[in-house]
Amino acid sequence: MSVRHFLQFKDLSRDELVYLFERTRVVKERFKRYEPYHPLLDRTLAMIFEKSSTRTRLSFEAGMHQLGGSAIYLNTRDTQLGRGEPVEDAAEVISRMVDIVMIRTFEQAIIERFAAHSRVPVINGLTNEYHPCQILADIYTYIELRGDIRGKTVAWIGDSNNMCNTWLQAAEVFDFNVHVSTPPGYEVEPERAGLYGTDHYEEFADPMDACRGADLVTTDVWTSMGFEAENEARLKAFADWQVDAEMMQVARPDALFMHCLPAHRGEEVAAEVIDGPHSVVWDEAENRLHVQKALMEYLLLGRIEK
Ligand code: CP
Ligand code: NVA
Repeated sequence: MSVRHFLQFKDLSRDELVYLFERTRVVKERFKRYEPYHPLLDRTLAMIFEKSSTRTRLSFEAGMHQLGGSAIYLNTRDTQLGRGEPVEDAAEVISRMVDIVMIRTFEQAIIERFAAHSRVPVINGLTNEYHPCQILADIYTYIELRGDIRGKTVAWIGDSNNMCNTWLQAAEVFDFNVHVSTPPGYEVEPERAGLYGTDHYEEFADPMDACRGADLVTTDVWTSMGFEAENEARLKAFADWQVDAEMMQVARPDALFMHCLPAHRGEEVAAEVIDGPHSVVWDEAENRLHVQKALMEYLLLGRIEK
């Protein structure tokens, strides 16, 4: 089998994602029953971080351990990557020593260059453009709590960032709609989002209109990692794009609220929403663990029947 990578959401077909979610359910149930499951015995995951992380590091490291393998944490500060070693050279070497690699970095081009020189699967743990593992968890959470996402409406409020781009790719794969509302100047760039077209999303000037009738309302920080220099301007530009109780009120009564975390209460989301009855952010965070275990199992072992 040729090496498969997961660099952006559409790298997996809908059929593969359906299989992955089925495996996620099985792996999660085993974990909840404290049943040991070690299909990746003696396999090693290298995790390369150029940006901070709590959930991504923990879920990959704990997940690999639970599958019987081990994980090694590397960050740019204390590897030769931080001193200018070419990404291509690092990929050649690292991929001869481990079985699978997860990378969190800046431009998508960096992870693509790494993957092009890697002998083993590479997983995107967040880039400036995409956060595909998070959207795997988000869609799995939606399906777990509400069923099929096909034909549903997701309201994306705030920045057209890596999370927004990945939601838009997922909408094309799973055939649902995204209502996007961003402040002027922060609109979706379809090419950067890696979209095939514009059929699966609609842009709304007023975030209330985007939320009306939505099955899921979701947002993210106004300033993503790597964009800190823009923070002051963004605080002003995004002030009217806080997901609040009024917005949740116009969504469907059973609408879910998601946020990939970390969150800033009082900025992109009101405390009463993220801590309120629509919010499923803790299930969403936990599901990172389960979907990524299924993902590593699939990339290393292919489809298995148990
Ligand atoms: N949601 C997410 O990726 O969180 P971390 O930045 O803590 O990994
Ligand atoms: N959009 C955020 C997500 C953090 C998990 C960022 O890139 O910083």
